Formats: sequence, structure tokens, C-alpha cells
Amino acid sequence: MDKIVIEGGRALNGRVPASGAKNAALPLLFACLLTDKPCRLRGVPNVADIRTTRELLQTLGATVEEAGPHELIIDCAGVEEAEAPYDLVRKMRASFLALGPLVARFGRGRVSKPGGCAIGTRPIDMHLAGLRCLGAKIEETHGYVEAVAKRLQGGHFIAEMPSVGATENVMLAAVLAEGHTRIENAAREPEVVDLASALGKMGAKIEGAGSSIIEIEGVDALGGYDHQVIPDRIEAGTYLIGAAMTGGEVRVDGARADDLAMLVECLEAAGAVVTWDDGGVTVRAQDRPRAVDIVTAPHPGFPTDLQAQWMALMALSDGRACIEERIFENRFMHVPELARMGAKIASSGGEAVVTGCESLSGAPVMATDLRASVSLVLAGLAASGTTEVLRVYHLDRGYERIEEKLGALGARIRRVPV
Ligand code: UD1
Repeated sequence: MDKIVIEGGRALNGRVPASGAKNAALPLLFACLLTDKPCRLRGVPNVADIRTTRELLQTLGATVEEAGPHELIIDCAGVEEAEAPYDLVRKMRASFLALGPLVARFGRGRVSKPGGCAIGTRPIDMHLAGLRCLGAKIEETHGYVEAVAKRLQGGHFIAEMPSVGATENVMLAAVLAEGHTRIENAAREPEVVDLASALGKMGAKIEGAGSSIIEIEGVDALGGYDHQVIPDRIEAGTYLIGAAMTGGEVRVDGARADDLAMLVECLEAAGAVVTWDDGGVTVRAQDRPRAVDIVTAPHPGFPTDLQAQWMALMALSDGRACIEERIFENRFMHVPELARMGAKIASSGGEAVVTGCESLSGAPVMATDLRASVSLVLAGLAASGTTEVLRVYHLDRGYERIEEKLGALGARIRRVPV
């Protein structure tokens, strides 16, 4: 298992390309299950979660061909198996997105229950409620969920919360259902919009993606797509926060300011200069950041996936910032690790109060989940001395070539096999 070693105290400067969004690419890969025609997906990030999804699709009988760098051709014509095994689902919760397309195309899907994960219990009740609204009969036995329906029927699904995964799963099922489906309180994330756009290319009839109400008119069959994944707003946001934290200037090529509006607002409030155009977003920071409170919320609110990185930034602020995590119940696992580097953070329940200090000091720290681990990398870049981040596999789930990208921005960072 590798570790990341960082010699801190250097500003990040330069340009870095945004990778394709992992969280957009995952549902787009599962969408291929809806058709027996090949789909070409461009801009696929080379991260562990994508490799897990490829493996899952192949287990189901799909062929996945690498057509070029970051480009896959997925052919689900040979899919006959409708069962996603525990071994793959436990590695990545998003595997549960196989259920909607499987039951929609084959009349039956059986997917292992994902179980808990480090950042909270993350139930699947809304996914199941949504599929039930479309007439699927759901049975939960032996750790698996089985959904059965001869042909799904359009329905009216009012989500309890705007869950990204549940919205996507229901969309992936409703496109092949008979009749009209209405999803209320739908997630409005850019990844949902990207999924709707690719499904549209396949022949699906979807309106309203990006708003709270999505309307879908089911069709009998879908074709393939040729689609470019949107840039990863969370990866981009991470590098922008890194620039603010180290007092540098970084442009993320390909990043879309619209998708990052709340982060841009917060960075500006913290004193950074943020500029953007059609080709990317740039952050320039000279002074110590000002303290800025955040509350995580569904899009367009502050993304929970940038909360840990924001906390690392606030650890160096010139005041006291309150950080409220409202999406996941256990997403402060980076707090004790940041504290080992000298950060002053008091947390209780879903709230943390960060009292900024002038400097952090490098230390060996333990990554606990994907976004927590990158907050430790950012802290290491800004800290004096050496930081070692252990359990790097968390980082590899969602950040492509992070040490190369940060190295190109001037960081002294290397991956060391342990
Ligand atoms: C997705 C993202 C993840 C991000 C999260 C919130 C992917 C692959 N992952 O995860 O990076 O942090 O959105 O922006 O896109 N919930 C239920 N019942 C359900 C489903 C969800 O109670 O059936 C709850 C969850 O526990 C959580 C909240 O709803 O408290 C939001 O979760 P959700 O939006 O579903 O997150 P994911 O789709 O799992």
C-alpha cells in the first residue's frame, strides 16, 4: 500500500487540467446497461472507482474496450447476468446504480446491499421507494436487493431528500418504463444534468434535469451514446482551495465556474481573487485567508465533497469559522488528523468550529475516506516540514495522478510504496 510524502511550505502555481468527473462517469457507465448498442464515453477519469465499475459491467457480461486515453467503448449487448455481487458493491456504493437499469431492461435486477461506509450509514431506502413507484417488486434477502417487474410503469416519485444516487437510479429506470414519470425534490447536481444529457442522446425523453422536478416519458428501447463527461468540479475545487491555502495562483483548465458558484463565493469571501472564462477558473491568493463559515447542502449549496478541504483552509484562517455538515452524519474524520498537524478544531455532532492558526506542522497522518484524505494532502502542502499521508487507496478512488498534477504546480510530493 502506497503513502504520499509531502515536503510542505511551497505555494502552488501554474495550470492544471480538470479530469472528467468521477461522479458523472459512474452513472453514465451504468446507463450503458440500458441498451444493446455500444456507447462511447470520453473523458473518463482513470481512478479506482471507475475500474471497479468496469469490472462490475464485465462481470454482468459487458465488453469494455479502451479506445484511447480516457475513452471507453462499452457494449452491453452480451449482458445476460442481472446480479451485481457483494465483492464489487462493497468496494463502491455507487454500484447500486446497476439496479435501476437492470430491472428496466431485463425485468429483473439483483444487487448486493452496499452496507455502511465510513462517512455514515447511507441507506438505500429512497432508491427502493423510487423503483417501487415505478411498479418494481422489491425483495431484500441474504444481503441482496432484488427488483422485479415485467415492464416498469411510469410513476410519481417524491423524494424525501434530494438524493443524487436515488434521483439517478430512478431516472435510469424510468427511461424504459411505460408511460410518464415525475420525480419531485430531485437532486440538482451537474452530474444529474450530465446523465440526462447522455440519456437524451440514447433516445430518452427527459425534461427538467437541473431543477427539482424531472419529467420522463418512457420509451420502448434506447440506442447508444457518444458522450464527453463533464469536468470534475470537486477535483477542480480541491486544487483551487490548494492555491488559496498556499498563497499561490492556480488555473484549473476545463473547470466550469457555474458548477462551482458557491465555492467561488466562499473563496472570494476568504479574500482570494477568483477569475474565470469559458476555458477554466483561476484562483490567486496572497494573504492569509479570512474565516468564512459554511453549511453543506445539496447543489447549488456548498458541496459536502469539499467540506474537508474547506476545513483545512480554515485551519490557516485569521479568525474562527463554523463548519456545519448537513449531508452525512460522520464526515469529520479528518478532524483528529488535522489536529495532529496543529489545527485547532472543536467538533461536536455535525458542527465544527475551526480557530485559524498561522501555520501547520507536517506529521504522519491517516487517510480515512476519499475527501478527508485530500484535505490532509492540502494541509501537508501548506504545512512546514514533512507530511506522510497513509492509506492512499482512499485518494486513488477519486483523484487521478494527484501527485503528478500537484508536482506540476510546484509541490514537492511523491508516492512511496510501503
Ligand atoms: C453522491 C456522490 C457523493 C456526494 C453525495 C452528496 C456519487 C457517486 N457520489 O453520493 O460523492 O458526497 O452525492 O452530494 O455521485 N440517503 C438516504 N436514503 C437513500 C439515499 C440517500 O437517506 O436512499 C441520504 C444519505 O444518507 C445522505 C443524503 O441522503 O445523508 C444524500 O445522499 P446522496 O445524495 O444519495 O449521496 P450519494 O448519491 O450516495
